[in-house]
Amino acid sequence: MEVVIAPGPELARLAADAIERLLRARPQTVLGLATGSSPLAVYDELARRHTQDGLSFARARAFMLDEYVGLPADHPERYRNVIEAEIASRVDFAEGAVQGPDGLADDLVEACAAYERAIADVGGVDLQLLGIGTDGHVAFNEPGSSLASRTRIKTLTRQTREDNARFFDDDVSQVPTHCLTQGLATIMSARHLVLLAQGRGKAEAVHQLVEGPVSALWPATVLQHHPHVTVLVDDAAASRL
Ligand code: GLP
Repeated sequence: MEVVIAPGPELARLAADAIERLLRARPQTVLGLATGSSPLAVYDELARRHTQDGLSFARARAFMLDEYVGLPADHPERYRNVIEAEIASRVDFAEGAVQGPDGLADDLVEACAAYERAIADVGGVDLQLLGIGTDGHVAFNEPGSSLASRTRIKTLTRQTREDNARFFDDDVSQVPTHCLTQGLATIMSARHLVLLAQGRGKAEAVHQLVEGPVSALWPATVLQHHPHVTVLVDDAAASRL
C-alpha cells in the first residue's frame, strides 16, 4: 500500500495522472467511478485535461460503485445522474459506456448479478477510484460487510443516511433506505485501487485503513490485502498515522 500525503489539489492531480497514463497507453481502459465529495477535484482535473489537452475517453468504459434503490430516474441525487453531471457529460464517453447498478430494476437480485457479469465481460476494472466513509465504509459496504461480498442489496445505516441527508434537503426521511453496491470482493478485483480522503473527519478511518487489523468492522481495511493500492490523503486525514 502506497500512502501519499499532500495538499488536496496535488492529490487530485496525482489521481488524474494515473488515469491519464492508463488512457494514453490503452484507450479502451475500464475505469471505476465513485460518488461523494472526495473524487470531485479529480473529475474537474480530468474534464480540464479533456478540454485542454485532448485526453479522450471515447473508447473507455466506466463502472460505478453503487446506487440508491428506488430513486426516480430523473432524481438529481440518483448516483447515475450525479456521475453524469460530475464527469460523464464533461468528457467524451461513448453512449452507454458508463454503467451503474440498476436501482430501479424490478428484480434487484438479478440486477446485481447482471452488473457483476457486465464488469467481468469487459475484463474487469483497471483503476478504481474510491472514497472512504467516516466509519470506514467503501462504496456502501458498511461496517460488518463480508470481506468476500459481491454486488448486492444493502440496508443503509442510520449514520450514513444522516451523513447523506445534506443532499436531500437535510431531511433524513427522504434518503433511501436501501442501495445496491459493489461488494468488497468486487472492488478488490480491480487492478489498481486509488483511494482519496481529506479532512480530520476521515483521520480515524484512514488510521484503521493503513494501520488497523483487517476487519469487517472497518471494511476498508480489506484493501491491505490488495497488491496495488494508492492512498491519497491530506495532512488532516493523515493526522492519526
Ligand atoms: C458515500 C458513498 C461512498 C463515499 C462516501 C464518502 O457513502 N457511497 O462511495 O466514499 O460517501 O463520501 P465523501 O467523499 O463525500 O466523504
